[in-house]
Formats: sequence, structure tokens, C-alpha cells
Amino acid sequence: MSQTIGFRSPEQWEQVAKEHLDKGAFEYIQSGAGVEETLQANIEGFRRLKIVPRVLRDVSKVDVSKTILGTSTPVPFALAPVGFQTIIHQEGELAAAKAAAAHQVPFTVSTVSTSSLEEIAEVMGDALRFFQLYWPSDADIALSFVRRAERSGYSAIFVTVDTPMLGWREQDKQNQYFPLRDGQGLGNYLTDPVFNEKAKIISSVREKEVVTEVAARLFNPSLTWENLKWLRTKTNLPIVVKGIVHPADAKLAVDYGMDGIVVSNHGGRQLDGSISSIESLPIIVDAVKGQIEIIFDGGIRRGTDIIKALALGADSVLIGRLYAYGLIDGQEGVETVITQLKAELQTALALTGETELSYLQQIKLIKV
Ligand code: FNR
Repeated sequence: MSQTIGFRSPEQWEQVAKEHLDKGAFEYIQSGAGVEETLQANIEGFRRLKIVPRVLRDVSKVDVSKTILGTSTPVPFALAPVGFQTIIHQEGELAAAKAAAAHQVPFTVSTVSTSSLEEIAEVMGDALRFFQLYWPSDADIALSFVRRAERSGYSAIFVTVDTPMLGWREQDKQNQYFPLRDGQGLGNYLTDPVFNEKAKIISSVREKEVVTEVAARLFNPSLTWENLKWLRTKTNLPIVVKGIVHPADAKLAVDYGMDGIVVSNHGGRQLDGSISSIESLPIIVDAVKGQIEIIFDGGIRRGTDIIKALALGADSVLIGRLYAYGLIDGQEGVETVITQLKAELQTALALTGETELSYLQQIKLIKV
């Protein structure tokens, strides 16, 4: 491992990102929708939950490995889909994916990655990767993305369902900032034969027109469970529904034969005022009772946050902004974030009085 960056807390990473990025790019990453009630609740929800640790239990050896969607991984976290990563570092997703692969941490490629899913697969070798689908308004393009992910060694499709349209993001409106408009995040569309055919994109076309064609197809406000039922018949890859906070929806994911859910409010970027991720987790765990894999995201900044999410019944977690800030320093920065989070998690597990993550559900949490 090529780690030479010194220790940085999550708050320091955010500060470094703020100093290095343009206002528009930084606020696009950092901010949430509306008055950021949900963004803050995601973080504060963790701070209100307190671990009641056990002692004198021989914690000289701790094991933080886990199985994520059937594959064993050295840590219980994966990198969340974060689009447009070239706004953070010129190498974008390629740098983050290489960092993830170097530590056997699964990487989730966004539909709006700037490099194509094939290019990212190429730099990852055999390392575990997932593809996140923003279901386009055209089902043929959706299926084309899924086929490409199958061919390029992706192990699951994460369908993001909390984004029928973009949330009400006031900072971005004020900054008049959306990375797609500057030609970022087009990697998967530009290389898609079905999209190119449908949009009649020719190589000489001006970038502005491509952006307009992609923007017109990117989200699908008419998506329903019937679309997921259809996708279920089209692919054998595990399907994970990302963006569930209501227990009834978690139950529907089970009924529709989905393989997992991500309990998530999109990092507070979609419906402001919605329940924090960590508050919705126990309700969902209770509703699905082990029938489906539960991945959690939203507000994970610390090893102790991972302990709390797993203690409440999550099988694994995704980290979003934390590694996005690390990407300021390219591959090395993301590797540093991963290494620090793993080390912090090992310390937290031992100090909780446990040696394995699977025992965490016996640990008591209280809400203050
Ligand atoms: C995201 N997220 C996201 N989700 C998704 O399904 N597809 C995407 O392309 C993106 N893009 C994206 C960009 C940026 C800048 C951020 C911050 C987030 C949401 C992401 O996957 C995840 O749900 C949250 O980031 C989790 O919250 P934390 O860890 O950032 O608090």
C-alpha cells in the first residue's frame, strides 16, 4: 500500500476538499436538499445513539471481515455510488476504483460515472464491483447498461429508487451547478450502442447536444415495482433496491424477489424532511426479519457509526462523502480513508467488548 498521507479526521478531509475545490463542486458534494434537515439528521442520529460496551472479554484479536452479497470482504463496508468523480480529481472513478480494489473493498459504479463501466472494470481486475442503475426513461437503455455490467464482471445491480427526479438542492440552484451540464458523468451513455442509436449521436455532434439527450433520459419518474419485476426476469445478477426507508417498501422488495435493499435517503440529497437513515434502520430490520440483505448508508463517518448500524441489524454499509473527500488526493487519498476507517473500526469493535461483527446484535444501544 502506498499510503503517505498523514492522519486526517473526517472533518479535516471535508475541510481539505473545501479548500481545493471550486465552490460549485464542493457544495454539490457536501450539501443536501432543502434546509438540510435530513442531511443533518443522518449525522445527528448517530450521535444520539450510545453504545453500552462490555468489558473483560479478551479482545486481543478482532475480526472485521464480513460477507457482502455472497462474497467475503475484509471489512463490512463498500464504496457507495457517487457520480461525476472527475469534479473531485482528474482520474475520477478510476482512482477510487483502484483504491477499493487494492483493499478488497467493493466499489459501486454510478450510472453517471465519467469513465465507462468497462474502463472501470478494466482497472479493477477481479475485484468485487457493483453497478448502480439510474433507470433511464427508456427501458432498452436500462437493459443495455445491465447487459454491459454482466459482461464486465459486475456482481450486482443496485437500482436507485429514491430519485425519480433530482431533489430540491438549493446550493446547486444558487451556484447554477450540475456536473452533467459541463460534460461530466457521460461515460456510460457515450459508449452505449442503444443510446447512440436512439439519440442518433454521431461522433461529430456537439457535446451540448449529447448533454441534452442524456438529461432527457437520465431519470424515470414513472418507474414502479412492475419495472423491477420485469428486470428480475431479464437478469440473474442480484438486484439491490437502493433508497428504501419505509418498512412497507422493504417488504415489497422481498415480495418482488429482490436480493437486497439499501436503507438510504441518498445522503439527505433527495427528500428533505424525510426520516434519517439510522432511525429508519431498526423499523426496516423488524419488517423484513432476515429475509433480504440489508445494506445501510447515510452519515457514516466513523468506525463507531458502523458498529451502531451493524448493532441495529444492517449486514453492511456504504460510505459516500467520506471517500469522495478522500479522492481529493486521488487513489492514495481514498486508500488512506479506507485504511483509517478499518483501523478505527477494529479499535471500536474491541472497545465495545466484541471480537466479531456477527456478535454485535447482542450489544445494547440506547437513544438519548
Ligand atoms: C451521491 N449518491 C448517489 N447515489 C446513487 O445512487 N447514484 C449516484 O450517482 C450518486 N451520486 C452521488 C454524488 C454525491 C456527490 C453524493 C454525496 C452522493 C448517494 C450515495 O450513493 C449515498 O447514498 C450517500 O452519499 C450516503 O450518505 P453519506 O455517506 O454521504 O453521508
